[in-house]
Amino acid sequence: MTSALLALAQIISDNVRDIDNVYTQHGLSYPTLNEPNSRSEFPWENDSSLLEKKKLIIAAAAQLIATVHSPVDILKQAAASAYMTAAVGFAADIGLANVLKDVDREGMHINSIAAITNIDVDNLRRVLRYLTTRHIFRELSEDVFVNNNVSSLLVGGAAHNGNDKDSLTRYDDAPVLAHVSLYADEGFHSAVALSPFLRKRDISTTVATPFNMVYKTDLSLFEWFNQPENAWRARRFAAAMTGNAKRFPDHIISDGIGMQSLAPGDVIVDVGGGVGSATLQLYKSFPHQRYIVQDLEEPIRAARKYWNKHAPEALVGDSVKLQVQSFFDPQPAIGAKVYFLRIVTHDWNDTEVRSILANLRAVADKETKLVLFETITRCSCVTSQDQVPYPLLGNLGVGGAGVDTAVNLHMLSLLTGRERTESDFRNLGLQTGWILQKINPGILASISYLPAQV
Ligand SMILES: C[S@@+](CC[C@H](N)C(=O)[O-])C[C@H]1O[C@@H](n2cnc3c(N)ncnc32)[C@H](O)[C@@H]1O
Repeated sequence: MTSALLALAQIISDNVRDIDNVYTQHGLSYPTLNEPNSRSEFPWENDSSLLEKKKLIIAAAAQLIATVHSPVDILKQAAASAYMTAAVGFAADIGLANVLKDVDREGMHINSIAAITNIDVDNLRRVLRYLTTRHIFRELSEDVFVNNNVSSLLVGGAAHNGNDKDSLTRYDDAPVLAHVSLYADEGFHSAVALSPFLRKRDISTTVATPFNMVYKTDLSLFEWFNQPENAWRARRFAAAMTGNAKRFPDHIISDGIGMQSLAPGDVIVDVGGGVGSATLQLYKSFPHQRYIVQDLEEPIRAARKYWNKHAPEALVGDSVKLQVQSFFDPQPAIGAKVYFLRIVTHDWNDTEVRSILANLRAVADKETKLVLFETITRCSCVTSQDQVPYPLLGNLGVGGAGVDTAVNLHMLSLLTGRERTESDFRNLGLQTGWILQKINPGILASISYLPAQV
């Protein structure tokens, strides 16, 4: 039998060769890490077999590293990975990628970066060396830094001019910067309390999450965002969520809803839609439907700006309506053809999700469809249904579930939510009058239901 080590190397080399061939056939070389991430993607780069091959390479490479690395070093690096959050969060805070944006070819000396950002030069160098060692930014020559393919995604947002972190619109149009900043701020602080929270023995405590412990509030994260002093945080969160439009190919939403089978004028409600980036994807391909995007106050305020920028005409007629509406209140859009929720139910515990789904069931027609877009969680070991190449994990490790397993802990730290299994989704439907019809698996699964007939 081939050794695990050789099998992993084989998976990497086979899939790398296949991917390289695809790019060659299109007259391209695979983008290097060194080039700033500026070219737009080609539709064929979202081809599912290509994405699958990338997942296998990542899964095998991570497992190869874990196999050959010293176990002590793996544990020490795992324990020290807080510095990754801290370092990348710091880079986002000081707008480092923006500082380097216009000097991509020749780079900028550390002394100039320090002068512009007003950070001690030696400390700045230490952080940058940490990041460049992990392929975020690049050290072109000693002490001269540039953006690379990864760090250039942090470009954007309002120009850095000192302590402007709390300006309301700083993160608008900068989804990756917003996401990184969110993880490194509320996420990081809450994660610090995860172990004390999980180990707490006093079951009389009413503290719902590590977030509540750290921020000393009884409010849920979204209620807390809704406080006037946190409006900028709500806005940053809304900006972060617009990145989902890029992360998940358009067809996931349209196939999951079954847009082709709808008639013109059918109403589609994007519940907890943020700024409505999923609806914008739909609207561009299916402009003859009517859409309602519902969310809380600040996200809907951000949504107005977002739609005025991307599709102002949609707000003029009745194609797209932006509506402040809590999904815990009775649903005013009665008998819509489709209600969909993208990455919403994972924010809430089962009781809360039941309340959201029951409010939608109360206004559903016989043919109303409910579609959830969520990640489906699973075990990491290989099961009898899996067809993963030896010796990979059943969920492809960080290649398949790296983000999802992190998000699951993020939900545990900040909210009462969780990632769920297929049977969790089936049961939540049954408990609220919805029969699960179909699951389309993928990086974002669609889970569709029809009303149970009474
Ligand atoms: C993880 S985000 C997903 C946003 C959007 N569906 C997307 O995919 O980009 C969850 C959304 O739920 C919204 N939300 C939280 N509590 C809500 C409530 N009670 N009613 C309506 N929306 C709410 C948040 O403001 C946020 O926009």
